Amino acid sequence: MRKKVSLAGLGLLLLFSLAAAPAPVVSAPDLARRLGCWACHSVHEQGGKTALPLDRIGAHLNPEDLRAALIRPRSRQPQALMPSYAHLRPWEMQALVDYLAGLK
Ligand code: HEC
Repeated sequence: MRKKVSLAGLGLLLLFSLAAAPAPVVSAPDLARRLGCWACHSVHEQGGKTALPLDRIGAHLNPEDLRAALIRPRSRQPQALMPSYAHLRPWEMQALVDYLAGLK
């Protein structure tokens, strides 16, 4: 009987800890590399030259505009060639926006 109770307790504990688990920590520079940002953009002169360098992008765009630029590039420039990153998971988008906003 006691054993049953403690097993149930353990199960509950496990459930709660899973539900409360924070979003995974993502490294934005790693993410940007995996997403191919540097095929077109550069930071510290490393990367592609077909699109604007992102070194000071955080001084030009606020986080809201950065997010919009990533989700719907054409909402900002009708002829935009940049692909949409709307498929990113919320915490990935957040990490990327925080990172870009910090490039000043
Ligand atoms: C295929 C090339 C390409 C890739 C890949 C790419 N971009 Fe872009 N990006 C562009 C171009 C070109 C522009 C300029 C606007 C346009 O023509 O789309 C741009 C614009 C931007 C802007 C500025 C938007 C504005 O309105 O001023 C930001 C911020 C940006 N890109 C970030 C990123 C990030 C972060 C990634 C990776 C997640 C990425 N880009 C991937 C080509 C690319």
